Amino acid sequence: MKAVVLTKPTKVEDVVLSDVEIPKVKPGWVLVKIKAFGLNHSEQILREFEIENDYIQKPVIPGIECVGEIADASDSGLNVGQKVVALMGGMGRSFNGSYAEYALLPVHHVFPVESKLTWAEMGAIPETYFTAWGSLFECLHLQPSDRLLIRGATCALGYVSVQLAKALGCNVIGTTHKEEKLSLLKEAGCDEAILDDGSMKSKISGVNKALELVGIKTLRDTLFSIEKGGIVCNTGILGKVYEWNGFDPIKDIPNGVYLTGFFSNYPTQKMIQDIFTFMDKHSLKPLIGATFDFAHIKDACVALDRGKVNGKIVVQI
Ligand SMILES: NC(=O)c1ccc[n+]([C@@H]2O[C@H](COP(=O)([O-])OP(=O)(O)OC[C@H]3O[C@@H](n4cnc5c(N)ncnc54)[C@H](OP(=O)(O)O)[C@@H]3O)[C@@H](O)[C@H]2O)c1
Repeated sequence: MKAVVLTKPTKVEDVVLSDVEIPKVKPGWVLVKIKAFGLNHSEQILREFEIENDYIQKPVIPGIECVGEIADASDSGLNVGQKVVALMGGMGRSFNGSYAEYALLPVHHVFPVESKLTWAEMGAIPETYFTAWGSLFECLHLQPSDRLLIRGATCALGYVSVQLAKALGCNVIGTTHKEEKLSLLKEAGCDEAILDDGSMKSKISGVNKALELVGIKTLRDTLFSIEKGGIVCNTGILGKVYEWNGFDPIKDIPNGVYLTGFFSNYPTQKMIQDIFTFMDKHSLKPLIGATFDFAHIKDACVALDRGKVNGKIVVQI
């Protein structure tokens, strides 16, 4: 089969398809024939430097998510040809991932789904919708009456979070650090679009839920910008600050404001099914920024690195 195989930090111009053996199943693992997969910011991080860490298998086929059909069900009880979604759990890091025609995946991270969506549409769902869903519902307990701030909303996860929150009936404020993207946020459905200069407090009022996608760079400011009793969920790291040095919970979290975080490593069949059910109920189409054929995987990775695509990048096989 064709696959992208990495052994060391790799420049995006050097991303190529290689010939590798189709993996053979083993107990507890199934072989998935991949039909489409989404690209993620974390795969750029893996390719550029994270690959040097010991916890990354080498060589590794990257890719933390995919959709496809069961090609060999092993001892799973699933059926050959069954439609599945797979994500995370070490995929593309501690075992080979989705930048390939087939992937051998642990059955507990492979979720059967029924859907009439095209493969490309389905490919936009696993990681991005699951992360938005978990952040909004598991962590922020989002309710229709909420006023939600999405900080760093011009990423795939941001646009999807706007879509889900608006479908629920929330009032949504999206921020961007680029003036020319304010109109995109309005088009995405935001009730207000605000240019983020690092300080939100004087710009917003009545916000009781906040999804922080810029991350630690702006997290303290977000915590001090929302109402007492409100919740902030830190899910993103777009601001490229990865540790909060000197974090003092007594002074850095205001009285009566709640801080949580979401990590997409633990998807469940119920949550995946709930996403498909919610989208069906609200007649939502998965949001796609751009699609590429697998033969053009390098171009897809270049698009990811340049950050010029507004929304999810999906690769079809
Ligand atoms: N916690 C988890 O488990 C989890 C799961 C998935 C993703 N994430 C994180 O969530 C974030 C979004 O992921 P994604 O896959 O949706 O990313 P993505 O679509 O690849 O987002 C990249 C885009 O974010 C925009 N952006 C917005 N605010 C930014 C800022 N302050 N600094 C830099 N770029 C900014 C950039 O566009 P402009 O600069 O043009 O606006 C860029 O094009 C990432 O940090 C990712 O690591 C976390």
